Amino acid sequence: MSLPADDISPFAARRRRVLDWMQAQGGGVAVIATAPQAMRNRDADYPYRHDSDFYYLTGFIEPEAWLVLIAGADPRAVLFCRARNEAHEIWEGLRVGPEAAAGRFGMDDAHPVDSLDELLPEWLLDQPSLWLSQTANEATCKRVQAWMQTARGLGRSGARPPSALRDINPLLADMRLVKDAAEIASMRRAARISAGAHARAMRHVRPGMREYEIEAELLHEFRRHGAQGVAYNSIVASGANACILHYQAGDAELRDGELVLIDAGCEYDSYASDITRTFPVNGRYSGAQRALYDLTAAAQEAAAAATAPGRSWDDGHQAAVRVLAQGMLDEKLLRGSLDGVLESGAYTRFYMHRTGHWLGLDVHDVGDYRAAAPAPGAARPWRTLEPGMMLTIEPGIYVRRADDVPARFWDIGIRIEDDALVTETGCELITRGVPVDAREIEALMRE
Ligand code: GLY
Ligand code: MN
Ligand code: MN
Repeated sequence: MSLPADDISPFAARRRRVLDWMQAQGGGVAVIATAPQAMRNRDADYPYRHDSDFYYLTGFIEPEAWLVLIAGADPRAVLFCRARNEAHEIWEGLRVGPEAAAGRFGMDDAHPVDSLDELLPEWLLDQPSLWLSQTANEATCKRVQAWMQTARGLGRSGARPPSALRDINPLLADMRLVKDAAEIASMRRAARISAGAHARAMRHVRPGMREYEIEAELLHEFRRHGAQGVAYNSIVASGANACILHYQAGDAELRDGELVLIDAGCEYDSYASDITRTFPVNGRYSGAQRALYDLTAAAQEAAAAATAPGRSWDDGHQAAVRVLAQGMLDEKLLRGSLDGVLESGAYTRFYMHRTGHWLGLDVHDVGDYRAAAPAPGAARPWRTLEPGMMLTIEPGIYVRRADDVPARFWDIGIRIEDDALVTETGCELITRGVPVDAREIEALMRE
């Protein structure tokens, strides 16, 4: 769970933008619910995590909360949250309560969440549109449907519920894609903490340790710097395990002569960081490991050079793929010409994922990777990068043992991942608090 935000002004500014936009689209009421709590097993909950859209517009982190935005001549933002309740608070902790919530979170009003069913049908009457997120869960959709039905039944003096149900999701996704100053500050902090955790892992690793011991070092560093937890389950993959893309830290032994791949990032202020480093368990890359490592680093550098405002989302991936494919030919992992292996996709045997994704409140953040079609029926081009967008740059190479690949590369899996902020002129890698250069990593491991 995140701490409540100290500065509420960014949240208020985002709500205003949504209200202005709704107004420009003819007005209406928007309803956005936070995430439900989930039971793990008998009386034990999963750690609670609020809904990202809801948090983006409120800064409010308690469960059982809803935001209602009413566009019009008198635009209003209203929060529904749990009423104060001494008996519950003794067991579960303090609640803000509607009396304090309006002032503390800059809302026009706040009500107990129990009054939603009574108030919402009335509020829907004579509104042109009801705005919901297409990603709203089933329980939310059912609840809203019930309000619409009740509103229809009210039917007084010809008042009617909205005739249009519209999707608020594309607007929120577009807004979230370009980070504001408060978001960039949180993401820099998350990036710094995660970089420190990777450096800690590099210093601690020794042959004979287990993957879970390294995971513990990462968690230690995340939590001691105030991160609320992990942004996703940590991958600590030794040796051949690195060739399993979604492997999680297990109990495998870290062996002398092997590499360990760590893909781990903390969540801070609800914002994700996402870093991968691959380094030698004994502190020295072997010749074969170093060859593929330097190749991956060069691919990342090429992708970063292609990450700049005005460039296409796909440019970075294509740049990385070119470098990797040429390296695969040079190292005899593939045969043929560069154009040939690019066209046939033969390189995907060793590089089977894309080079990045949007990053923000969610590790795989919202935001369309493509722009609108230039004409009806035409293909949608890749999106153009803009300052303030945040993305990962994460090329890799994964070589499973097989008779037709040189044995010296068997079971080597490498990925290098940094988080990039698109600036006015290019991009800034905000996770470079931990080195990427092989010699720098070896030097850090000797410390
Ligand atoms: N850690 C998730 C990813 O790299 O996409
Ligand atoms: Mn990633
Ligand atoms: Mn990652």
